[in-house]
Amino acid sequence: MTKYVIHGGKPLFGEISISGAKNAAVAIIPATLLVDGVCRIENIPQISDVTLILNILQDLGADVRTVNRTTVDIDCSHIHNSKVPEELARKIRASYYLIGALLSRFGSAEVPPPGGCDLGGRPIDQHIKGFVSMGADVDVKGGYIHAKAKGGRLTGTTVYMDIVSVGATMNIMLAATLAEGLTVIENAAKEPHIVDLANFLNSMGADIMGAGTDVIKIRGVERLGGGMYSIIPDQIEAGTYMAAVAAAGGEVLIKNVIPKHLECITAKLVEMGVDVEERDDAVLVRRTGKLTRTNVKTLPYPGFPTDMQPQIAAVLCLAQGTSVVTEGVWDNRYRYVDEFRRMGAQIQVDGKIAVIEGVEKLTGARLRACDLRAGAAMIITALAAQGTSEISNIHHIERGYEDIVRKLSGVGADIRVVITPDEEQSEATAG
Ligand code: EPU
Repeated sequence: MTKYVIHGGKPLFGEISISGAKNAAVAIIPATLLVDGVCRIENIPQISDVTLILNILQDLGADVRTVNRTTVDIDCSHIHNSKVPEELARKIRASYYLIGALLSRFGSAEVPPPGGCDLGGRPIDQHIKGFVSMGADVDVKGGYIHAKAKGGRLTGTTVYMDIVSVGATMNIMLAATLAEGLTVIENAAKEPHIVDLANFLNSMGADIMGAGTDVIKIRGVERLGGGMYSIIPDQIEAGTYMAAVAAAGGEVLIKNVIPKHLECITAKLVEMGVDVEERDDAVLVRRTGKLTRTNVKTLPYPGFPTDMQPQIAAVLCLAQGTSVVTEGVWDNRYRYVDEFRRMGAQIQVDGKIAVIEGVEKLTGARLRACDLRAGAAMIITALAAQGTSEISNIHHIERGYEDIVRKLSGVGADIRVVITPDEEQSEATAG
């Protein structure tokens, strides 16, 4: 078993550079299916979710070439297969983007239901509603979602989202890009990765307007051609390191970010007594004094991101006073709370609300990452805690954080990857 061992209680000093955004990459890579030509994608994060989605494209017949550590060339021109392999697709939530992309390109798709973190119910009814209203027949049989456009090509229409959904908004954008006529998405999600997907598609020849607002208009085009595109920096990775500095103390320059995307996180940290200084493409985060309580409610962008909820809760465990966290997106995103309690945190959860009584100190413990962001939050509590913590199930964390051990070690954290004797006798220092 591989785990992280963290000796906590050391403030963090130095610089961390942020990688490309996971939730943009896992949509833009499937979007290359729409392109007739080579797409050079830069600033790709090296995380297991990206490896999986690239493997799925290769399995479908795409030519994927690594140019350097963060750049790949993807050529999907010669693909003729619209059936996605079950084993790979079930491991990743973003495999649902293959439905929209394959439907757009071939007029049909066979994709297994998506996997991903267990955050309570994760329906895709809004995605399906969109495809059906554009003229697709969609049904589930034999463990696969089968979608087929009547007449072989989807037709543009107006799709009203009953719920603001990141995935459904991007999936319908993909489906509409090569459809006949105009598609209007109303009550669309506005996250930075939605704008990034639209920018990618437009740079390849699509006609998409309004991404980043709640009405997106997509006029279908006949074909997209190849080109070059660089993925935006990861808002949540940056926010996670900001929270780590807030909890552990110290001063860290977080580089390669778009400060505007971090404003919702910055605002909460400032309320808690953390100094955040915005630069052009960096934020300087400094925490020397005590942390103070605040309330946080997660909402779709530009609200406070649900993907930062466990990490901000980790910081609030050490803030003076009582804080209330309200989860406004997912049904069950407090599965980490029992692990925090083992470190001495005082948290009560009732449905979507967590009440946190700040404590003077947390103490190291053995922890189990239950999902990606919960795992990241456990690293934060462990960095701030007195003594040693061990975090197992780290494959969840590696799905979404590139080189987290190296990046934290670079700012003075005492964190190592340890492979326990049941697999290997040696202890490896991560790098
Ligand atoms: N929902 C429906 N029906 C749908 C789609 C969504 O009821 O058809 C509900 C969901 O159950 C949820 C809410 O709408 O309550 C929002 O879900 P959304 O569709 O926005 O989430 P998602 O697209 O499945 C993406 C990210 C998540 C992130 C959410 C919200 C990817 C691959 N995943 O999921 O990221 O929490 O948006 O911002 O982009 C993570 O990175 O850790 C992660 C879980």
